[in-house]
Amino acid sequence: MFFHTLYGKLAITLLGLLVAVGTTYILLAAYFTQDHLRKTSQELNRTLAANLVKERELIQDGVINIDAVETVFESFMVINPSIELYLLDRNGVIQGYSAPKDAVINRQVALEPIHLFLDGAPLPILGDDPRNLGRKKIFSAAPLIGEDGNSYYLYVVLRGENYDSISDVLGDSYILRVGIWVTVGSLFFALIAGLFLFGQYTRRLTRLATTMTQFRNSDFAQNNSHIPISAQSDDEIGRLESSFDDLAKRVIMQLQELRETDSHRRDMVANISHDLRTPLASMQGYLETLLLKDGKLDPEKQRDYLEIALRHSHRLGKLIKDLFELARLDSGDIELEKTNFSLHELAYDIMQKYQLDAEQRGITLRCNDAQGVCNAFGDIGLIERVLENLIENAIRHCNENGTVQVIITEKDGGVHVRVADTGKGIPAEELSRIFNRFYQVDKHRSNKNGSAGLGLAIVKRILSLHGSSVEVHSEVDKGTEFSFTLGCVLTQTEASESTLK
Ligand SMILES: Nc1ncnc2c1ncn2[C@@H]1O[C@H](COP(=O)(O)OP(=O)(O)OP(=O)(O)O)[C@@H](O)[C@H]1O
Ligand SMILES: [Mg+2]
Repeated sequence: MFFHTLYGKLAITLLGLLVAVGTTYILLAAYFTQDHLRKTSQELNRTLAANLVKERELIQDGVINIDAVETVFESFMVINPSIELYLLDRNGVIQGYSAPKDAVINRQVALEPIHLFLDGAPLPILGDDPRNLGRKKIFSAAPLIGEDGNSYYLYVVLRGENYDSISDVLGDSYILRVGIWVTVGSLFFALIAGLFLFGQYTRRLTRLATTMTQFRNSDFAQNNSHIPISAQSDDEIGRLESSFDDLAKRVIMQLQELRETDSHRRDMVANISHDLRTPLASMQGYLETLLLKDGKLDPEKQRDYLEIALRHSHRLGKLIKDLFELARLDSGDIELEKTNFSLHELAYDIMQKYQLDAEQRGITLRCNDAQGVCNAFGDIGLIERVLENLIENAIRHCNENGTVQVIITEKDGGVHVRVADTGKGIPAEELSRIFNRFYQVDKHRSNKNGSAGLGLAIVKRILSLHGSSVEVHSEVDKGTEFSFTLGCVLTQTEASESTLK
């Protein structure tokens, strides 16, 4: 399990690296020390063979005394037991030596290193070891030439300084041993420090991984990361942490939105089915009655029934039209056909349409004198729908003998429109909901009028497509005012005047 964690992998890698570095260092140090020791030892004994040749009478009367060689060698070795002496002929074959008989395995020694040695080549030079096949040793050598023309070599193997293997060198060199212990100690310290630091770094990653797992386990609903923004460092892990934070917030928000949209959608389907079924059912009822009582109803009742059925069919038509309109506005691919138009004229035309209706209920419809107010810039067809919805609502909710006013002014470089009524108002707690689809403050009463609660949702959507928004102020039993602002376009005269300036 430990090796499956990032910390475990880093720890193993670090350990492996330090062991590799340490071993390489020790081997290299030992190799160079061995080389150095061999060199100095051979250097010291460079003239040893030549001195022995000079000192001891290996040549008697100009002739090399082979029979006496072994006795002479033994006396050499008494003086210096760390050397082995061999007498070689010109082919390198051993003619005499100072060792127990079985000890010498190699009867012939390569002459090439001896020639190099005699020629003064750089040391160390390794020669064959007659006692060990394949082993190389440092040596000293000197030629022996008799007057009879026979030539030999005195071959001295420097056995005393045993630097054959690295372990020998390690055993012998105190400085090297101390150096190695220091290196091992430093590497061990580096390992501990590295493990501690890796632990520090990976702890943040582990924490992030745990937070992410918890987030997944909570079905992407709860982000438990508690790192304050100020404490997040700007290294890669810090960036990862803050990206995860953003991501988690976004996911939570979007899931929330999805849930809300889903629940809205379900509500909407329920509302639509209800609002379609009610007028359809009563329309069917009246038409069936007419059919059943064909000719038996008096013409006045018959007409009443027909009118009711027609009203329901209008209501159905309006509902379907509004639903289509909302779907079209929501689809996102609607293109606004923006033009330059007078909002005052548009409001005036719409008011004419509702004039009769208002008069019947004793309501006064008024529009302020908006001469000089700049033209609006927008989709005239859609803005007409906005004004119709607002004026129709105002008239519907206005008290008898009340007033509905449309006030158009110029504000902050735009055309500001207010539709105010002296009606029953909307309770403050309902204000935030009246723009929701199918939301009606008094559902029962509104249903009777054939309205479905889509008007303000359409108004809000159209204005948001124009980059604007709708505001509402209302006081219960005093009245309600809806307002919005549209972008302004200067009238032609104003435009030419401003360019002249
Ligand atoms: N001027 C107003 N005065 C009082 N209440 C209002 C006013 N305008 C809107 N409302 C309230 O807001 C609700 C939503 O209005 P909206 O225009 O969206 O729907 P509706 O008029 O009921 O139906 P539709 O517009 O689809 O025919 C209304 O049912 C009403 O309760
Ligand atoms: Mg309405």
